[in-house]
Amino acid sequence: MERKTFYVTTPIYYPSGKFHIGTAYTTVLADTMKRYKKQKGYDTYMLTGLDEHGQKIQDIAEKAGISPQQHVDNMAEEAKKLWKKMDIQYDDFIRTTEERHVKVVEEIFEKLLKQGDIYKGEYEGWYCMPCETYFTETQLVDGKCPDCGREVRKMKEEAYFFNMKKYQDKLIKFYEENPDFIEPVYRKNELFNNFIKPGLEDLCVSRTSFDWGVKVKSDPKHVIYVWLDALTNYITALGYGTEHDEKYKKYWPADLQIVGKDIIRFHGIYWPIFLMALGLPLPKKLYSHGFIMMKDGKMSKSKGNVVYPEMLIDRYGLDATKYFLLREFPYGQDTIFSPEGFVERFNYDLCNDLGNLLNRTIGMMNKYVGGIIPENKGQKNKEDAEIEQLVEEKIHEFEQNMETIHVSNAIENIFQIISRSNKYIDETMPWTLAKSEKEEDKEKLQSVLYHLAENLRIVSVLLESSMEETSKKIAKQLNIEENELTWDSLQKYGKVKAGKQVIEKGEPLFVRLDREEEVTYIREKMKK
Ligand code: ME8
Ligand code: MG
Repeated sequence: MERKTFYVTTPIYYPSGKFHIGTAYTTVLADTMKRYKKQKGYDTYMLTGLDEHGQKIQDIAEKAGISPQQHVDNMAEEAKKLWKKMDIQYDDFIRTTEERHVKVVEEIFEKLLKQGDIYKGEYEGWYCMPCETYFTETQLVDGKCPDCGREVRKMKEEAYFFNMKKYQDKLIKFYEENPDFIEPVYRKNELFNNFIKPGLEDLCVSRTSFDWGVKVKSDPKHVIYVWLDALTNYITALGYGTEHDEKYKKYWPADLQIVGKDIIRFHGIYWPIFLMALGLPLPKKLYSHGFIMMKDGKMSKSKGNVVYPEMLIDRYGLDATKYFLLREFPYGQDTIFSPEGFVERFNYDLCNDLGNLLNRTIGMMNKYVGGIIPENKGQKNKEDAEIEQLVEEKIHEFEQNMETIHVSNAIENIFQIISRSNKYIDETMPWTLAKSEKEEDKEKLQSVLYHLAENLRIVSVLLESSMEETSKKIAKQLNIEENELTWDSLQKYGKVKAGKQVIEKGEPLFVRLDREEEVTYIREKMKK
């Protein structure tokens, strides 16, 4: 039987500087969704990559005294190194300077030109000579260049345009028929009401003012201007438009395209329209997340408030870093990164809740029942019934949340199982049961420890997509085997095998941080 496919993409990032936690966030989110679907048995495919053309990249390379190609080659190495460090399981990494992409973009442009969707016209705007950049009236600051503050001149150049207006009605119809194409829905509404309904402007898709890009085949003084080049990566990477389009046939349309709110306009308007013009199916879902902000606004080098993922990973580990990103940033919205928030989540959630639960469970098993996962003996009592029900509910909620990309809520569900389990220990007081001579209490003690082992097994299964290393450590300490950790094992409570020897003394999963010291540490690192 053919397995269901799941194709997830990230934006292709501009290789303009070191990648910060914003970029890492999108990538981790996509990776987590991929792993989750894989765990459920899907045939998954994840794409990420770099958007390597354009004036900005050309300028950066020039400043660094290297060729644009050399610059993007270096940056591609950097990106791959970071994703390796973050254990991102992408299946392909597309670079827009690769021949497999360039060739197809050239053909796409010619096709659209022939069809009459692209026409030649004149681009008019405010041009800053030193910056060699066009600005629109509204981008100007006090009538001057928003980048350097110098005088701008009204200029015209020959350019190709994409006839967006032609597709306006079709796009409106599409949104009416697919109201949840973009999530969160409020972002769709924003886009629809502010940009689509008032009427689309034709899009300039070529430039003659720089040459670092894909040349128009039939008119090579023109370079194809970024979005037509960039957006098509999602299909060129699959071999669309070539003889080897097996992957395209298998995985397109994408199941989930994740982007930040900054580029939802391009993905929610231009991308569907390009696809319509090419006669191709549209992706099934666009998810637009919010921005990671700092107390003083956007992250920027000049403000000295940039957080790089390497810094957090090197000091606190990959799983703690991923946990923070996935948990702290709620569905769709912006959130402020704070060192205090990071340290608190580390100490409260990871050490106090999760670390302690495992530690206490292993400790009690060794102390009271010879280090062996006991049988689930005796009558099911009220506490047992309650906790079993809660766990079943949370598994269900986890799945619902993951299916709707509410990843932060899904992870919260895991931690609800964890904190309820800690409470269950306090309620059932195994240390008192252990002192009792009564047969009934002995059985009850076994049952309590069995429930704890089972809950930790379930936690391990649920953490697999977001915190693989931690998930494995939990299973290892409890001597739970891989075949007890399948997604299907969540169907019914009580799958952990009794009779197995757990570890005698496990390494703590997370070691408590000194709040003040670490807040200072992170803050200092942000300045560099
Ligand atoms: O826009 N918080 O590339 P880009 C959260 N090349 N996410 C953030 C973020 C932040 N502070 N900063 C960046 C481009 N991102 C184009 C895309 S796609 C065909 C072409 C993430 O390097 C977020 O996903 O500016 C955002 O959409 C993306 O990086 C922008 O990356
Ligand atoms: Mg950007």
